[in-house]
This record gives sequence, structure tokens and C-alpha cells, in this order.
Amino acid sequence: MSAIRINQLRHTYAMKNKTVTAVDDVTLDIGDNEFFTLLGPSGCGKTTTLRCIAGLEQPTSGSIELGGVVVVSDRVLVPTHRRDIGMVFQDYAVWPHMSVFENVAFPLRIGRKLRRAEIAERVEQALDLVNMSQYIDRRATQLSGGQQQRLSLARALVRQPKVLLLDEPLSNLDAKLREQMRSELRLIQQRIGITTVFVTHDQVEALSLSTRIAVMSGGRVVQEGSPREIYLEPNSEFVANFVGATSFVAGRVLSSSPVALTVGTELGTLSCRPQPDVRTGASAIVALRPESLVVTDKPTQGDNCFAGEVELSLFVGDGVDYRIKVGDQSLRARGSARVQFVAGDTVYVTAAADDCVVLLADPDGAEAARDATDVAAGDVESDR
Ligand SMILES: Nc1ncnc2c1ncn2[C@@H]1O[C@H](COP(=O)(O)OP(=O)(O)O)[C@@H](O)[C@H]1O
Ligand SMILES: [Mg+2]
Repeated sequence: MSAIRINQLRHTYAMKNKTVTAVDDVTLDIGDNEFFTLLGPSGCGKTTTLRCIAGLEQPTSGSIELGGVVVVSDRVLVPTHRRDIGMVFQDYAVWPHMSVFENVAFPLRIGRKLRRAEIAERVEQALDLVNMSQYIDRRATQLSGGQQQRLSLARALVRQPKVLLLDEPLSNLDAKLREQMRSELRLIQQRIGITTVFVTHDQVEALSLSTRIAVMSGGRVVQEGSPREIYLEPNSEFVANFVGATSFVAGRVLSSSPVALTVGTELGTLSCRPQPDVRTGASAIVALRPESLVVTDKPTQGDNCFAGEVELSLFVGDGVDYRIKVGDQSLRARGSARVQFVAGDTVYVTAAADDCVVLLADPDGAEAARDATDVAAGDVESDR
């Protein structure tokens, strides 16, 4: 059975002289114990979708079921406190005037009365789960950012809800801590087996944590699939560009069969991964991931090897980020850290056919994703 079913969800905000459509016909089916991620640029409707699930926002139309029970539709509206959910926000929202214990105990003091001993036991369990037991008597203000984030996670879990909603919970942490909390979050989620909806604009978080991802743009879901599908088989320039760095090469399909697909491009003829629905003669865009390009000082045997000149060479520790000029095209490539070519070097770039993904032309999508990626990168900068 699905844990969460969202059907044709729409939400508009009324502004002074216009209405903003924040969520536009979103339909999702999220299974038990899934780690489901809404991924997309700022303003694409992720938070609004999550707030509708939580009951903090009443959708303009559509319906939502939690565990097979309708919580909102045109006839039903179950208030937030009667929905079986826990929620963590980007800004932690811990109560500064309370101790760690009181912060976590708070949700247990609402509604049904529990005995003191039971409250204490539940709080201890929740704190133990997030490795915070030793801070039980501290004031919330005496915690670091990462500890406050753990505290808000314990608070969200203390009632043992069926569903956990997380809105960019890691984005206010510094890079190192974010990575650590990322792994911990997944471990905790697996251990307690809780259906989770996670919101982020960070593709690495989305790819590494999720069982499934819905990529959103302009209030709509533009692709839904496993992390592998989203990364390796993007269905548009928007997704290819937003999820990972990608170079795009325009061309025309020269031949297409179930076993081989070739595209004539400015680089030359590219052998690509075969794909149904691609017709000979169609105009196409070939998407190339930096890490799938092999950079060498001598030509390689076989298909898809092109001579180029290094424009930019950045050593980044675990590899070298290149920009390589091939004809009029500038390709991004990720090379090994052991050898580093420098600007001006003549090199050869080779791509395996399986790594050359043909997309249908989507002229606006790529532009939108590039802008969105810039904004996302800006967000990260300002966190430091
Ligand atoms: N309270 C609000 N009033 C008016 N517009 C809003 C409000 N909240 C969000 N929006 C608008 O709705 C759209 C989606 O916002 P949001 O769901 O917050 O996106 P995301 O979480 O993906 O950044 C954006 O255009 C945003 O400006
Ligand atoms: Mg948001």
C-alpha cells in the first residue's frame, strides 16, 4: 500500500495583483519506508508541496492520502496535529528557552496525556537515536548547529510518526557536517524504517539518499525515477543540467536501431546509447557527463575520440576539472588527479557510446537549469 498518495495537487498563492501558481498538477505515489526526494531549484514548489502534506497549507485543489486515509480533498480537511507526521525545517526551529529534554518532550505533552516515566523513556530513546543522549540537560542555545539539527530530528521522531517530512534540513550546516549528517540521516531512516519525504535543491543529497526522486520545475514534476535513472537517463536538458554538470552537443540523428544510434555533431559522428523513439533525421542533443569523458595525451582506438585543447585545468583534490575546446564546443571533463594537463595542451577526449545520452531538443529547459544551478551555488556560498 502506498504511504502517501498525492493526486493532482495544485496550490496558488494570491498576491496583491496576481496569483502565483506554486504547485501545478502534482501526482505522486510514495511507498512504505521510501526515502522520497523532491529535488529542484529554488521556487519550484517543493516547500509548498511538503506544507500541503503536513496540513500547514490548504491546497487549491487535489487530494492527499496518508496511509490510505484522505487527509485533504475538496470535502475533507484533517488538521496538522491530527496527521501522523513529524517535520524538520531548514532553520531547526528549536525552542531556545527550553532544555534539550523539554524540546523533545514538547510534542508528547500535546493531546493525549502520558505518564512522566513514559515521557522520559520516549525522550531518551529519541535522543539516543540521534546520538544526543549526553546533552539531555543542556539548554538548546548551548548546542552547535549540527546538534540543533539532531535535536529537531529527535523532536520530529519522538511521537513515532508514520511519515517524516524534511525541508532542506542540511542546508544550514557547513560542508563537512552536512556530509556527515547526510549519512547519519539515511542510517537512522533505515534503522527505524519510516516513510520520508525529503526536500532539497542539492543533487548530491538527492542522489545519495533517495530511493526515488521527483525532479520539479515551475510547480510541476518533470521526471520521476530512481537516482540512477535520473542521473543516467535524464529525460530533458533541464534534468540533465540540474542533476550534475553536463555538456550538451547539438546534432542530427544519422541512424537509429535497437542496437546502435549515431548522431552527426560538430565534434564529428558520435556513437550513442540506443534509444527507442529516436528517428533518423531528427534533431537531437547529446548529453555528456564530465566523469564519463576520458582525457589522454594520445588518441584512443575506436569510436568517439576527438582532439581538443585544454582551456581550463583545476586541481580539486580527488581529480582535475577540465574545460576542453573541441572545435567550437567547450566540453567539461573530470580527469584523474595523478596526471594533470595544463591550459594549451593538446589532448584527446573519448566517450563510451553508452555514456552519450540523446535528448529531445528542449531549448528553454537548459537555460532555466543553468540559471537555477547558479542560484543554488549562490545559496551554498552564502552559508559559509
Ligand atoms: N506565502 C507565499 N506567498 C506568496 N507566494 C509564495 C509563498 N510561498 C511561496 N510562494 C511562491 O510559490 C512558489 C513556490 O515556492 P516554494 O514552494 O517555497 O518553492 P521551493 O521550496 O521549491 O523553493 C515561488 O514562486 C514562491 O515565490
Ligand atoms: Mg523551499
